[in-house]
Amino acid sequence: MLMGLLLGVPAHAQEAPSLEGAISADQGETTINRHIYGHFAEHLGEDIYGGFWIQDDRGNWQYNQQVIEALNQLNIPNVRWPGGCFADYYHWRDGVGPQEERPSIVNAIWGNVTRDNSFGTHEFMGLVDRLDAEPIIVGNVGSGTVEEMANWWEYMNHDGPGPMADLRAEHGREEPWNVRYWGVGNESWGCGGNMSADYYADLYKRYATYLWPPYGPEPYRIAAGPSGSDYEWTRTLMEEAGGMIDGIDLHHYTVVGTWENKGSATDFTEGEWHEAMQGAWYIDELITRHSAIMDQYDPEQETALIVGEWGMWHDPMPGTKPGFLKQQNTLRDALVAALHLNIFNRHADRVRMANLAQTVNVLQALVLYDDGQLVKTPTYHVFDMYKAHQDATLLPMDLERGTYAHDGEEAPAVSASASVDDQGRIRVTMANTDPSRARTVSVDLRGLDTSTVSGRVLTADQMSAHNTFEAPTRLQPSSFDGAQLENGTLTVELPAKAVVSLELQ
Ligand code: AHR
Repeated sequence: MLMGLLLGVPAHAQEAPSLEGAISADQGETTINRHIYGHFAEHLGEDIYGGFWIQDDRGNWQYNQQVIEALNQLNIPNVRWPGGCFADYYHWRDGVGPQEERPSIVNAIWGNVTRDNSFGTHEFMGLVDRLDAEPIIVGNVGSGTVEEMANWWEYMNHDGPGPMADLRAEHGREEPWNVRYWGVGNESWGCGGNMSADYYADLYKRYATYLWPPYGPEPYRIAAGPSGSDYEWTRTLMEEAGGMIDGIDLHHYTVVGTWENKGSATDFTEGEWHEAMQGAWYIDELITRHSAIMDQYDPEQETALIVGEWGMWHDPMPGTKPGFLKQQNTLRDALVAALHLNIFNRHADRVRMANLAQTVNVLQALVLYDDGQLVKTPTYHVFDMYKAHQDATLLPMDLERGTYAHDGEEAPAVSASASVDDQGRIRVTMANTDPSRARTVSVDLRGLDTSTVSGRVLTADQMSAHNTFEAPTRLQPSSFDGAQLENGTLTVELPAKAVVSLELQ
């Protein structure tokens, strides 16, 4: 390698550093909950209106079939709705009944736009039905009441007769929907009411008490969790309300630079790439430390840690409305997604749900849509490559992570996770964050008798490679022939800046 440096051989041509590891294929115990691969659709920008929900030539609202068809390929397990911050502004009664009679709403938190409330409870349930996904409702604590939230639960889940079930039937739906995942407010430390942890814990208990009626599904009640490293928030919730909480909803965004100046989604330096990778790895520390606090109060791990909002947050796309949070999505975002998903898999004992922010046209979107044109982002392809982990059994995997150094800063280079499904198929997903140098990864396969390996890779020459309406397939997975199985060892020539998914049989 030294010779290569001396002779001026470019980094990508130098010998790939080797990393070693092992997978114990007969020692898997934990299921990777499919809800880790979940999504989030807020009334924000063009995620719902202009994304999932579009108007025809006559101005009639309809579901966007292009978006639904694209997402159907991903086996989306859930969608979280209506926010986000918007949830604590939203009054569900304004979004049911004949569409022409619904009052409009000013979305003061996102872009100050007025919407006609044509997308409400029934339309959301129609959407998750079309996506074959489970709904996650986030109720309004910040500007709502206990009665309003309890009535929403009754509207969705009571089979009648009764005032809310009768109203639902009047609005065209006889059968209850049986919605069990229920968020009690969102970011209650910030846009959801600027509360202290103590105050929210008391309020949580009050709201959660009335989300436990003797009918409908057993509720799965989700508490608004901490922002990033606010460990005291988690401790307070566990201490004061832990027995009533099924999931604590941690939010963590990967931001390069500062919140005021996050930088461009497409025009960035290697330093900004490296910072994004460091930011993505940080979710591992956050999960580890929040879980350690939860372990003190809940050693049986009954309460889940949910990562209800995650992803890259860049400066808005030039020429778009800043409050709409529209951004492009490059290979850098794909690597960030791959790191998160590997880390969630590896923490599957405590992390049992996560939601990428957000699905269409907002933040780290899966698809961008505009006026009849749809493009799948690199992040979409990562979810496609990782979807086989859903509900599979996590396999213990030790792997050296190596080092990716840039400008005196160091981060681990390689992330990976492995699972086995109920048909015995083993999936290994890997990501090499180093944009210049490949890695040779050798994995000892213990307790496993396999003979074939096949795979896909997502990579590009440029760190900023991305898809556009004009070039929608610039970045998409291709078949991968860099993996070999021999004498119980899996050897992978992992290219620079690449995500790889393998299937072993
Ligand atoms: O996803 C955008 C916003 O980020 C959400 O509305 C809020 O919960 C978070 O701060």
